[in-house]
This record gives sequence, C-alpha cells and structure tokens, in this order.
Amino acid sequence: MTPRAAGVEALLARKQVVICAGSGGVGKTTTAAAIAAGMAARGRTAAVLTIDPAKRLANSLGLPELAGEERQVDPGRLDAAGLGGTGELWAMMLDAKRTFDELVDTYAADEQARDAVLANPIYRELSNAVGGSEEYMAMEKLHQLHQEGRYDLLVLDTPPTRNALDFLDAPRRLARFIDSRSLAFFSASNTAGFGLLGRGTGLLFSVMKRATGVDLLQDLAGFFNAFGGMAEGFRERAQRVDALLCDSRTTFLLITSPRAAAIDEAAFFHRKLNEEGLPFGGVIANRVREPIRAAGGEKLDGELEQLLDPALARKVSRTVEEHRRLAERDQRNLEQLRTRLSRKPAIVVPELAGDVHDLEGLEAVGRHLFAAG
Ligand SMILES: Nc1ncnc2c1ncn2[C@@H]1O[C@H](COP(=O)(O)OP(=O)(O)O)[C@@H](O)[C@H]1O
Ligand SMILES: [Mg+2]
Repeated sequence: MTPRAAGVEALLARKQVVICAGSGGVGKTTTAAAIAAGMAARGRTAAVLTIDPAKRLANSLGLPELAGEERQVDPGRLDAAGLGGTGELWAMMLDAKRTFDELVDTYAADEQARDAVLANPIYRELSNAVGGSEEYMAMEKLHQLHQEGRYDLLVLDTPPTRNALDFLDAPRRLARFIDSRSLAFFSASNTAGFGLLGRGTGLLFSVMKRATGVDLLQDLAGFFNAFGGMAEGFRERAQRVDALLCDSRTTFLLITSPRAAAIDEAAFFHRKLNEEGLPFGGVIANRVREPIRAAGGEKLDGELEQLLDPALARKVSRTVEEHRRLAERDQRNLEQLRTRLSRKPAIVVPELAGDVHDLEGLEAVGRHLFAAG
C-alpha cells in the first residue's frame, strides 16, 4: 500500500502546474527545486523551470551555463542525495529572450518578417519596454511545456521581482501593450506616423541620429511594422497562457518568510489571487527559526554550565535566549498568517544551518515540505 500523501504532495494531488510565487529572497528558487525533486522521488516525471538559481545550485542540478534547455538530473546523484526514486527530475533555466525569439518565429508570417523583427534593435530592447515581459516569458515557456505534455508536473520558479504581483499581471499587460493604440498607430502609419508626433519630436530624432548614428525613427517604424503583423498571434497566445494560470490543474504556492513585512505581502497576494480567480494551493513559510532545545530534555542552562566555563556558558545562554525570542516572534507571525489566510494549508520549513545549494540541501528542505502534519 502506498502511504497517504502528506504536506506539499497532498496539496499537489491532481495538479500539473505549480507556480512558486513570493517576494524576493524568501526561497522561491530553493522551494521550487525541492518540490520538483521530492515529487520525482515519489515517482513523478517532474521539471523545475528556474530563473535565478545560485551558481552552486545550478551546478548541482547539472544545469549548463546555456539557458533554455531542459536537462535531466543524473539519477545517480539523486540517489546519493537520498532523492532516488522511480520518477525523473528535469531542470531548465529560463531564458526570456530566447522564448521571445521562439514566439516571433512561431507568429511571423514568413521568414522575412521574422528576421526583420529579430534583427531590429528596438526588438532587443523590448523586454525592458514591456514591463513584466520576463515574467510573461516564464509563463509562456510553462504553457509550451504543458502543451507538449511530457511531464507529470511542472514547477515554475518566479523572477526575483520586488513585487510578486507583477507576475500575475504579466499576460494581461502584454495583451494591453499589443492592443495599445501606440502599436496600432505605428504599424498602420509607418514612418509617416512620426510626422504626426510634432516637429519637436522629429527634431529630437534627427539630433539623436546625428549624435549617435542610430536611426531610431527608422528602427521604430520598422519594428512596429513587422511586429504589428504578429499582434493577433501574440494576443491569442497571451489569452491561452492566462487560461492555463486559471486552470484547475494549476496551483499557486505562496512562499514567504516569517517576518512581519513578508506576511503582510503574502496576505495581500493571497487576496489578489482570489480576486483574479487564480487557484491558491497554500503557503510555505520558509526559514522559520525554531527554539534550541537541550539534548537530554533537561534545562539548557544546566547543560551549558556542565559543559562550559561559567563566562562562556552565560554568553551562550544569552545567545540562546535571543534566538528563543526570535523563534517566538516567528511563531506569532505564523499564527497571524494562518488567521489572515483563513486557515489555508500552511507548511513550515525551518531555517537550516547553512545555505541550500546542493541536492542534499534540497533533500533536507524536502523532508519538511513533504512531512505530515
Ligand atoms: N530553509 C532554508 N534554510 C537556510 N537557507 C535557506 C533556506 N531556504 C533558502 N535558503 C537560502 O536563502 C537564499 C535565498 O533563497 P532563494 O531560493 O534563492 O530565494 P528566492 O528565489 O526567493 O530569491 C539562498 O542562499 C538559499 O540557499
Ligand atoms: Mg530566485
């Protein structure tokens, strides 16, 4: 008999897509990788799509410098780290630019239109011009892989945006940009359109051209002209990506630290998910500090006095006391978080001693993620 699913595995029953969201530095990348690894150990073919893994974590996942390709993590290494199983773990570093290029390739009417966009200097700047396009491209890749259907589970790490909400809004923002009047205006009127911007602007462009040698006007017109033809394809696509986010096979996990500010953000994010009709799976409180306990269950102070000279024992005791206060504060914050999320599932991962940068570290995080209770 297989044991009953517990912890994060229970949250992921019947789910094919998991999105790990949260503000920067809370452990999204770590958690996403640990979830995919744990689900692979439990027999799934799981892939983690990661964005900014620390170099050592990337190495231990066997990720090459080159982004944009899925790689299977060596089963021997998983075994050695205690993550062996019948499933498969795949990892991929997301590459927004490359995903964007692939989309252009898909939606361009012909090779000429494609090359015109890809070679255009404006296109190369577009990822900055359309706010959140990195987020959008992450979801686009997710959608592609989901369509291909090669994985039981896709775990998406999200970009290190200060604001987790940027991510939710990305497909709609792209659609808005495509529908925006500026795009229609520029693509319809071509270079002539810029005349309408007024003489001041025209002058500005020509001064810039002389100063920099870059014919921005020409580039802009060329870009909007070529890109305009793909707008319909992009719009449809953005709608499908949006639909995947709302799908019942998708779930958002909210990663948070137990600090008060992070909890405010988490509560806000949860409300936002609800408002947008996006599926919320639960919250993972990461790096929660736990009280230090004496080995034999005796009083810690007594144990310290036996082991250390009195001055040192006092010092250690003060440190332990300080840590206990922090741990209590984390507990109070967590309790508040649970209340504010109306008692939705919450999984606690403690602060581990040392960074999580290898498969052993992921296994250690996973033990808490997948634990019962
Ligand atoms: N439970 C944990 N215990 C100790 N260190 C952790 C834990 N979770 C994450 N870390 C460390 O915190 C840092 C930030 O984690 P990361 O997953 O990169 O955050 P994010 O992707 O949200 O920016 C990393 O150095 C990681 O090793
Ligand atoms: Mg990250």
